[in-house]
Amino acid sequence: MDRLFSQFQPEHYDIQWDLRQAKSNRLIRGTATIRGQHLAAEPIRLHAKDLQIEETTVNSQAVKTSTDNDILTFDNTDNGPVQITIKFSLALTDAMHGIYPCYYEHQGQKRELYATQFESHHAREAFPCVDEPEAKATFAISILSNEPVVLSNMPVVSQRESSEGTLTTFEQTPRMSTYLAAFVAGDLQRATTAAKSGVEVNVYATPAQSADSLNWALQHAAQTIDFFNEYFGVPYPLPKSDHVALPDFSSGAMENWGLVTYRETALLADPATASVSTRQYIATVIAHELSHQWFGNLVTMKWWNNLWLNESFATLMEYLATNALHPDWRQWDEFANNEGVAALRRDSIDGVQPVQTDVSSPAEISALFDGAIVYAKGGRLLRMMQLWIGDEAFRAGLKQYFTRFKYSNTTGDDLWDCLSQASGKDVGALMNTWISQPGYPVVYASLDNGELTLRQEQFFTGPHQPSDRLWPIPLGANDQRLPEILKEREQCLSPAPDGLLLLNHQNASHFITCYDDTLRARILQAITDGILTPAQRAQYLNEQILLARGGLVASSTLVEALAAFQNESDQTVWEIIALAISDLKKFVDQDEAAEKLLRRLSGKLARRQFERLGWNKHPGEPESDSKLRAAIIDCMLYSEDAAAISTARQLYQNTPLAELSADLRPSIIGAAVRYSDQPAGIVSQLLEAYQATQSADLRSDIAAGVATTRDAEQLARLIGLLTNTDIIRSQDTVHWFVDLLRNRYGREAAWRWMRSQWSWIEQTFASDKSHDYFPRYAAMLLMTRQQLAEYREFFTPLRRDQSLVRAIDMGILDLEGKLDLIDRDKAAAIAALAK
Ligand code: BES
Ligand code: ZN
Repeated sequence: MDRLFSQFQPEHYDIQWDLRQAKSNRLIRGTATIRGQHLAAEPIRLHAKDLQIEETTVNSQAVKTSTDNDILTFDNTDNGPVQITIKFSLALTDAMHGIYPCYYEHQGQKRELYATQFESHHAREAFPCVDEPEAKATFAISILSNEPVVLSNMPVVSQRESSEGTLTTFEQTPRMSTYLAAFVAGDLQRATTAAKSGVEVNVYATPAQSADSLNWALQHAAQTIDFFNEYFGVPYPLPKSDHVALPDFSSGAMENWGLVTYRETALLADPATASVSTRQYIATVIAHELSHQWFGNLVTMKWWNNLWLNESFATLMEYLATNALHPDWRQWDEFANNEGVAALRRDSIDGVQPVQTDVSSPAEISALFDGAIVYAKGGRLLRMMQLWIGDEAFRAGLKQYFTRFKYSNTTGDDLWDCLSQASGKDVGALMNTWISQPGYPVVYASLDNGELTLRQEQFFTGPHQPSDRLWPIPLGANDQRLPEILKEREQCLSPAPDGLLLLNHQNASHFITCYDDTLRARILQAITDGILTPAQRAQYLNEQILLARGGLVASSTLVEALAAFQNESDQTVWEIIALAISDLKKFVDQDEAAEKLLRRLSGKLARRQFERLGWNKHPGEPESDSKLRAAIIDCMLYSEDAAAISTARQLYQNTPLAELSADLRPSIIGAAVRYSDQPAGIVSQLLEAYQATQSADLRSDIAAGVATTRDAEQLARLIGLLTNTDIIRSQDTVHWFVDLLRNRYGREAAWRWMRSQWSWIEQTFASDKSHDYFPRYAAMLLMTRQQLAEYREFFTPLRRDQSLVRAIDMGILDLEGKLDLIDRDKAAAIAALAK
């Protein structure tokens, strides 16, 4: 597909939207005047999707247009500067992109507000434009409406009231891409402060939310702007920074310049009760979106193949900024646990996309936003580079990048050039291999005759084509005599180190290590002796999980490795222990006797910490303990410990939902549901609370708890609600679906639901970036050969959809790999559990 920017280059848009008939007629009218340069001899073309074009002029002359395939073609071939005016209208729909309504209830009344979501290619659903990131222009936006609060990227310049409604006019934006334009209009409450630099910072939410719940985000947003101002050495580029919590929102958050939008769970937190994870999540989402205000908004990728410039960088900055603001949160350990784990899992499946991937159509662009690759892996690669060149050179390079390219567009090489200049190292030579090759290596480390051999090979889980890919691997060895970078297939070192050998000891490179028996024994000893840091222990265990998945070590050794973690008290390590237990579940999924053995192991490992932590917060305890308590109690409940179950049930019975400890709430609700003798009653009660509460946080905890029911009738009831968007908002459907699939008792029915409701799913989620979550999560959670056959049969015909094909192909390999592994390792894994 050719780009429109090559023939028409917009310089300025004047856009007015008229929202006055939004509620009554589901209709929005608009006028757009576009100034730009027409470079080609062909007719002018603009993107326009589902817009009713009413009148068009070019240079004040009425001109005919035609629309085909979301492109509006003008019957005009004038070259040079042109001014186009278009009157149009559009129908408001619930799709959560373009201009869309959000619904909420306040004081018993159903109300709505209006918001926009334009990334990646939905600006064309709101106004005719060249909807490509390179087509930067200035925007003068105005909105005619009767809504009490109207926000856009820039501050308001004037508000004129008339009998017609209020016309709000905003200051002109700097040069920016169409996908970053935005507005929100409705009844909103505001909390306000200023960053040190004087930039105004506001948080908005509907009046249905408690006023307190805006404050955590407000303080955090202001501090994060201060941090980036200092860290980047380039000031926040706009006069204000708004953050709006929207009741209906398809993704997590969106970095519209000056007007960041969020789903409610990603911004609002009741300071008295919010869990530690909720506060950490909000802090990282804010940091992510604020970092985009520079990286992405001020300087933007030329085209979507360089999307990683936006998202990988923002992922790194989530942790970098929050780590600076909350050193006690040990965000780099979290980085390894969240991004590292996700990237290593996804990136080991054959057919995975590289971080930098060529795309042309909107469907391909949607499929690009793979959180595990473009976010997690890319973020990890940038971290690897940052540590390689050092923070000082990293910051100097970034400053130069922002200064040189502000208000314009770049490719990866522009960034590498700035960083190379600042560091004196050839950054592109290291990074280009990593971003353009899919997958990652496993390094085999083995001792033989006093010699250490290191050998790299691509690491796979599941069926795969042979690969001879090589990477320049920053080894990060704890022993200085090892090379800094392993470039070749194989390298030997003599004499071999005789003590503990750790590769990637800061977990900053994207590879895993398969140690031979001798080296592995030394590491296990070091763990027992308490010599490794928590991050190293977590990393070691996570790599064992991966090696077991890839068939490079037997799954039974994972069971044995867990024994070294009996005394573990560190929260970040426990996150990985919990992952290891959950990874072993596949071997016992179809075998209740064997499952008892795994449950027993879970209880045995958690018992010590359970005794230390109990159910209640200790005065002054570190936040990591509050977080750990939740993981430990989950393990105890999984072990079916009678006392734990009974305490959970009592807590549920004696405490109003909103007063349960938020850290433990989903676990408590889950246990109360699973072990209730009146499943229908408790599910009804919870569904009522689900509908009554205005807290999205509580709603998501209720969903997670209820979906663990084992009662067939209740499961059928919940599955019946999935298409009822009056109860389950479409922003939450996938979460419910995944929770039900994860539940062994609900899996089959949820899987049947997905297939029988596919046309509803298509209607509701097609052209949304969550579309491919369905094949992706189904593959992750299905468990039998029969289901694999059904998966193939159902999804193979859907491969023609470009937004699904990769998820389907990888899904088949993912599921097949898991089933092969179950066949191969099940008996030995169960035997190891029985010991
Ligand atoms: N730019 C994205 C959001 C986005 C991407 C919206 C593609 C529509 C299409 C935003 O910066 C983002 O990455 N949001 C994340 C949350 C973040 C904290 C990881 C999301 O929505 O998942
Ligand atoms: Zn982002």
